[in-house]
Amino acid sequence: MFDGRLEEQRRRLKLTPEEVERRIAEAPFGDKGKEWARRWLAVESYGQVGLALFKVPPIIERAEDDILMDVDGKEYVDLLAGFSVSALGQCNREIAEIIAAQSQKLVHYFDLPHPERIKLAERLVEITPIKGGKARVMFGVTGSDAVELAVRAARYYTGRPFILTAFGDYHGVTYGTMSLTGKGGMWAYFYPIPPQDNAVGYFPFPYPYQCPFGSPPAGKSEEEYCLERLEEYLEYFFGSKESPYREAKNNITNVAAFVVEPFQSSAGYIIPPPGYLKLLRKLADKYGILLIVDEIQTGLGRTGKLWATEWDGVEVDMLLTSKALGGGLPLSAVVARADILEAWGPGAHVSTQAGNVLACAAANKVLEVVTREDFLAEVRRKGERFYQGLVELQKRHSLIGHINARGLYIGLELVKNPETREPASEEAAFILEECVKEGMVFEKGGYFHNRFQLIPPLTIRDSTIDRALEIFDRAFSRAEEKFSR
Ligand SMILES: Cc1ncc(COP(=O)(O)O)c(C=O)c1O
Repeated sequence: MFDGRLEEQRRRLKLTPEEVERRIAEAPFGDKGKEWARRWLAVESYGQVGLALFKVPPIIERAEDDILMDVDGKEYVDLLAGFSVSALGQCNREIAEIIAAQSQKLVHYFDLPHPERIKLAERLVEITPIKGGKARVMFGVTGSDAVELAVRAARYYTGRPFILTAFGDYHGVTYGTMSLTGKGGMWAYFYPIPPQDNAVGYFPFPYPYQCPFGSPPAGKSEEEYCLERLEEYLEYFFGSKESPYREAKNNITNVAAFVVEPFQSSAGYIIPPPGYLKLLRKLADKYGILLIVDEIQTGLGRTGKLWATEWDGVEVDMLLTSKALGGGLPLSAVVARADILEAWGPGAHVSTQAGNVLACAAANKVLEVVTREDFLAEVRRKGERFYQGLVELQKRHSLIGHINARGLYIGLELVKNPETREPASEEAAFILEECVKEGMVFEKGGYFHNRFQLIPPLTIRDSTIDRALEIFDRAFSRAEEKFSR
């Protein structure tokens, strides 16, 4: 980093205009799309996510439910749902009607109260599993906003500086949140501010299929082993006499909170062993620190339960929600133990666009829909259909090493060899491009760039699931031919 390697790394990460033009020329869409792509990249930064997820993302003009349409009229199966935002399908009619009606009444009132916002806070308090049962809410605009707000509130309430999070977690890339984002690929862009400068410590995420603690001894499952070792690790973290986080003799800690994703989303839709949050709850109670769960991606039905936290049956000190909450409009909320948010005084936190009226009106409809009878059962049914289809594909395509799924939260890991589990990163990149050619978009991620994150709208039709499986089948076959497997 300090002897010219930083410059070398930055050179490798950069895109040149020539490379951008080559990508556009080879893009698997029509002339109008290419023309728009050229206009786009003539004026916007190359630092945006579209050029990391795809060679060039399709330029989408319209959408309906689970299908996107680009400027040339080409259709794409949507397994991205705007990164979990369009959870109720693109251009959902019920939400569109609410937004249209509200836009005739009141659109914005600064960070100040209005009936839609008050109703929304009341409902969030009712449906969120907060420890002790008495909760309060504070609103933000983006997911990062909610994380920043939660960290500020936790530090203020406890009077302690440190936050602990897991390697691989993603909590945003604003100045306050980037230190909490332990995604290796992002760190290169954070330098020269290392996370420790913002009082953030990391522990390994229990990722059973590529367990950071090695292989289990005979008779023990990967999941059990991963969690047991994590417990030992964290106990050492707090308990050793060298621990920077706890002064053992007087039992004083300088850690304000754990801030964690219940399942790791941007890192590749990785589901930890059952009991992960229970373990953190136990340690949080033992050492007197707060447990904050970031459900910005996993919440509101995505995993087949209202909150992913419910899979472990724990109550938390704060829960953060955003993405699907606003039904496509930007909105986030921190739901916290009442005493935490009662600790500070008037004006402690403000954001001009927080709790926007249109977004709150849409969010009230989103909550109504996701808490309707049978909504979550239907998410689980569709998730099972998708999962079983992928299991069938796995029998024919040995590239699929591992599938983990809860509801419509589905992660797929590609490996060169199921025995060694060596990541198939190149193959994964090839398959994604083949799928874009065929008309399907999704995100590829993972610690080793070899995981597919399947995030369809929760309203996805069975026929669209089947169409997605057929596209995958063909794309995997072509990858096998190309990489001669
Ligand atoms: C779990 C999680 N937390 C926080 C964020 C940050 O949200 P935003 O991009 O809206 O700031 C994201 C975004 O992907 C996320 O997935």
